[in-house]
Amino acid sequence: MSTQTPTKVVDLASVVAPLSAEAFLRDHWPERPYWAERGDGRLASVPELESAEAALAGARNVTFFKPDGSAGMVPDGDAALPLYRLGLTCYFAGSHIPALREGCEHLCADLGLPSGSIKAEIFCSDGESGVKMHSDFDVNFALLLRGHKRWRVAENHHIRNQTGVCRPGSVEQPQPLQLELADSTPFPDDMPEDAETLEMEAGSVLFLPRGWWHDTSASGECLQVNFVMKSPMWMAVLTRALKTRLMRDPGWRGYAFDVFSEDPERRDAALGELAELLAGLGDQLRPLLESEDRAALAQELLGESGFKPAERA
Ligand SMILES: [Fe+2]
Repeated sequence: MSTQTPTKVVDLASVVAPLSAEAFLRDHWPERPYWAERGDGRLASVPELESAEAALAGARNVTFFKPDGSAGMVPDGDAALPLYRLGLTCYFAGSHIPALREGCEHLCADLGLPSGSIKAEIFCSDGESGVKMHSDFDVNFALLLRGHKRWRVAENHHIRNQTGVCRPGSVEQPQPLQLELADSTPFPDDMPEDAETLEMEAGSVLFLPRGWWHDTSASGECLQVNFVMKSPMWMAVLTRALKTRLMRDPGWRGYAFDVFSEDPERRDAALGELAELLAGLGDQLRPLLESEDRAALAQELLGESGFKPAERA
């Protein structure tokens, strides 16, 4: 009798199998979707992911979605279990599961991302579930462990590098800022004609790049792990590096006392202090703006940002 021991390592190669990690990086990452409808061993070896009940054990802060689309939160997996059994979709971080925590860091290392850039999120539902058309700002590897889910996905030609969720043009935007950031509005009302329909089964993976429109529908038991990247954006690399530099100045380290004081004199004095700091900012930024060697400067700023490479266990 032979028993096959599935791999316990969760990394880019196991997540995108049967495609190789190299081929994924060459042909898909970070802007072209990829899907594989079956995959041997993808998270199959993680005992905490054998069922929704097992995944909920030890989970903290579980969000649940009511049939009307509104959401609520309970403090832990025990409190969420009856809601899950009632048929509500539950959503929670996967950081209580060691294999997922490690897997996130492996993915960061394999993708060349700073440590902590990828987080695991778990969705489970039993009954009719799904999400209406929207696009997200994160980059997502969605691994379906149990159930069947239909996805429709299409490229977003209306906004580049969105920073929040976008919904169809006919409905209210959760973050109206996205309309200001968009290249073209209104957003489409329905999934674009060129949308692909994917029928995902247990063991499948979908890599969905940032901003792609999608909707999903599932029935019956469904358990999905998403590995999502939500940071860092370039502006975070720069602003964190700037903060490191400004930290050296006692003025910038000062508290913003009195900025909302009811006493107009105190408020004016506070804003005067900020104005004085701004007067010195040009000199502080000059070495950065006038640098002859931008490549060296970029390396220096990355170091000062405090982001660190991920380590393989
Ligand atoms: Fe989404």
